[in-house]
Amino acid sequence: MKTNKTIYCCLLIFTAFFSACDTNDDIVVNVNDGDFTIILPSPPITGQNTSLTAQQTTQLIFKGKLSTVLGYQSGSILGPTILVNSGDSLKVQLKNDLTEPTNIHWHGLIVPANMDGHPEDVVQPGASFDYKFKVAQRGGLYWYHPHPDGYTAKQAYLGLAGAIIVRDTEEDKLNLPSGEFEVPLVIQDKRINTDYSLNYSPTMNDVMTGYMGQYITVNGVHTPYKGVKTTTYRFRVLNGSNSRIYNLGFSNGVSFKVIGSDGGLLETAETVSTLLLAPGERADILIDFSSYNIGKELFLINNTFTGASTQGKQKFNILKFVLETKITDNYTTPTLLSSIDKIASSTASKTRTFRISEMSMSGMGNMGGMTMTGMHQINNKVYDKNRIDEVVTAGSTEIWVFDNSTGAEPHPMHIHGVQFQVLDRTGGRGSLIASEKGWKDTILLLPGEKVRVIMTFSEYKGVFMLHCHNLEHEDDGMMLQFEVK
Ligand code: C2O
Ligand code: CU
Ligand code: CU
Repeated sequence: MKTNKTIYCCLLIFTAFFSACDTNDDIVVNVNDGDFTIILPSPPITGQNTSLTAQQTTQLIFKGKLSTVLGYQSGSILGPTILVNSGDSLKVQLKNDLTEPTNIHWHGLIVPANMDGHPEDVVQPGASFDYKFKVAQRGGLYWYHPHPDGYTAKQAYLGLAGAIIVRDTEEDKLNLPSGEFEVPLVIQDKRINTDYSLNYSPTMNDVMTGYMGQYITVNGVHTPYKGVKTTTYRFRVLNGSNSRIYNLGFSNGVSFKVIGSDGGLLETAETVSTLLLAPGERADILIDFSSYNIGKELFLINNTFTGASTQGKQKFNILKFVLETKITDNYTTPTLLSSIDKIASSTASKTRTFRISEMSMSGMGNMGGMTMTGMHQINNKVYDKNRIDEVVTAGSTEIWVFDNSTGAEPHPMHIHGVQFQVLDRTGGRGSLIASEKGWKDTILLLPGEKVRVIMTFSEYKGVFMLHCHNLEHEDDGMMLQFEVK
C-alpha cells in the first residue's frame, strides 16, 4: 500500500516536472496598449460599522463584458475600502452567501486571535459572524481577505478582498496628497473562461509556481486609465495577487518616492525608479506629474526582474495615466515623515529559524530544488490544524529568520498578529529595498535569500498563523501555527 502510494507520488512528480519544463515558463500577460479605455474605478469607502456579504456576483472587468466573480457586495468584485482612525473600534458583520465556508482575516492589523480569521474559525454557508475589535496601530494601508482552510487562494482570487486605510494624527499633520489625489490601487492578475467569468482551476504546475493570470486588473478592471492633473499623487498600492510579483515603475522611467510600506510611513521618503512588490505587500508612493504637458500619456508598468524563478520575464503595462488638467502645483514632500523606534536586536529573548526551501528531490538525479504539490514546507512541515508549531510569550521580542538559501522559488512570508522590522537580508539581493525599511508584515524571499526580522508580540493570547503569501503555496500547506501565551 505504502509502496503503491510512493510510486504514484513519483509519477505525479515526474509528470509535473516534465510539463513544467515545456509549458510553464511564465503565464504571458495579454495586453494591448490601445485598450486602456476603462476609467479606473475606486472601491466605495465605508466606515467603522460595515456589513459585508460574501456572494457570487458580476462585474465589468473587461469592456462590455460582464464577468461572474465573487464580491462582498452585489455588483462588484472586491469589497469596499474600510476607512478608520487609529484608536477606533471596527465592527464588521460578515454574512456568508457562498456555498462553502469563508471568514475574514485582517491582514496587517493586530487583533485578538478569535477575530483574526484563523483557518479553522469559519462562517458556514448561510451563517454570519460579527467581527469586532479595536484598531490600535499606525496609519497605513492594510487589507482584508478570506482565510478558510483550503479555500483562501480560490476565494481571494475570485474577488474576495478589500483595502483598509487607517488614519492617524502623525500622518494627518504631514498634509500628504489627499482627496482626489490619494488613490488606492489594488493590483491583481486573473484568468478567465470563454464567458469571461473568472477561472480558478490550478494544475499541479500552478500549485508549484502559484496561480498567475494573463489579465492584469487594477481595482477590479483590466486595462484602466486615469485622467490626472499636473500635481503630486499619492498611490496606496496593494499587491492583491495570489502569486504574481510586480516590479513597479513608469513607462518613461521616471522616478517616484516611496513613503510607506505594510505598516505605515517610512522615516524618510526614498526615491526609486522601480519597486518590487510581492503578494500581500503594500507600498505608499508619491508620483509627481507637475512637469508634464496636457495630453501626455504614461503607464504604470511591470518591469522585468531577475532571480525569481519563473517570474519577472515580461515587461507589461498595468494602468494608463493621461494628463488632463493643468493646475498650479507647489507640493513638496516633507523631509521627515515619521519616526520609527528601532527594536534593538539585544532585546530579543529568542531566535527561531524557519527553513522555507521547498523539499528537494533527493535521490532523484539532478532535480534538486524542484518543488512539488503538497510539498511546500516550513521546517519540513505542512500545515496541521492539530499541531501548534511554536509557542511565544505575549509581549516578548524575538528574531525570526526565514531561510530560502537552498530554495528554488520566491516566497513572500507573512506573520499574523504582529508588525515586524527587517534586520537584514543575506544572499540573493543582499540588502533591503526602500519599502522594507519601515514596519512590515510580509517580506519577500527570492531563491538564495535569508532574512532576519524582529518583532514584539502583542498581549493578545491565542493561536496565530505564519505562512507564505503565495496563496497556492499557503493552501498547499506552507503555513504553521504559533501560540502566544
Ligand atoms: Cu493576507 Cu494569513 O494572510
Ligand atoms: Cu495576515
Ligand atoms: Cu511560497
